Amino acid sequence: MEKLLYTGKAKQMWQTDDPEVLRVVYMDQATALNGKEKDHFAGKGEAANAISTLVFQYLIDHGITTHFIKKLSENEELVKKCDMVPLEFVTRNVVAGHFASRYGLEEGSALKEPVEETFYKSDALDDPFINESASVALGFATHEELAQMWGICRKVNALLTDLCAKAGMRLVDFKLEFGRLSNGQIILADEFSPDNCRLWDLETNAHLDKDVYRRKLADLTTTYDEVFARLEKAIAEEQ
Ligand code: ADP
Ligand code: TMP
Repeated sequence: MEKLLYTGKAKQMWQTDDPEVLRVVYMDQATALNGKEKDHFAGKGEAANAISTLVFQYLIDHGITTHFIKKLSENEELVKKCDMVPLEFVTRNVVAGHFASRYGLEEGSALKEPVEETFYKSDALDDPFINESASVALGFATHEELAQMWGICRKVNALLTDLCAKAGMRLVDFKLEFGRLSNGQIILADEFSPDNCRLWDLETNAHLDKDVYRRKLADLTTTYDEVFARLEKAIAEEQ
């Protein structure tokens, strides 16, 4: 019997007959301010699933080990069940969002090198910033595992910065999550969609990500559909 294990802000995680496999359902829902604002958007789950499964397959095709098994339906995928590392790995290429507000900067300037930040995944605490020594001291990961996960983030940044540029978009920043398989292996998990990255049009700087919802700029589902179409075309043109 399938059992609902978890309902998050964007997805549901369902147990399957295979104890090592989860079914992920992308919901027609978007949240802002760590869940304090929540709205329904028809078609959003399909669009986020389409983008994330496309991107994870692209990463797998380029040598990155991930939890992705297959797209199951318009709004569902199958993934390898992980014990999640309770950290969010944020990479920033361009000044935006909280990095801009924290340091009193205008959004939009390119950073001299990517900024790498980890946050402790806790809605109750509003995902506080956490450094390497605290992450290790609290037992979330070892120094070696953190180095391994940041190594994967750098590969993802290189691959997706390039791909997004071919799709006419600037990869401003993004958040990744990792998990451990039952044998301890660390793999890339969760999702990659405009829910957890910033994408700006290369020519106009128009927002093509969840900021259109956070800042009330445009329709969320239409924006995500456009991101999918651009990425799909860019990948097809690479082949
Ligand atoms: P949130 O928990 O932040 O509201 P979601 O709505 O996206 O986020 O819920 C998905 C949850 O599933 C997240 O907590 C994420 O860490 C977790 N998760 C992602 N991939 C896997 C996986 N392969 N195995 C187990 N849990 C996962
Ligand atoms: P920030 O500027 O709000 O810190 O966000 C940086 C990037 O990380 C942005 O692409 C959104 C993503 N992100 C998440 O996906 N989840 C989160 O909880 C946070 C804080 C950021």
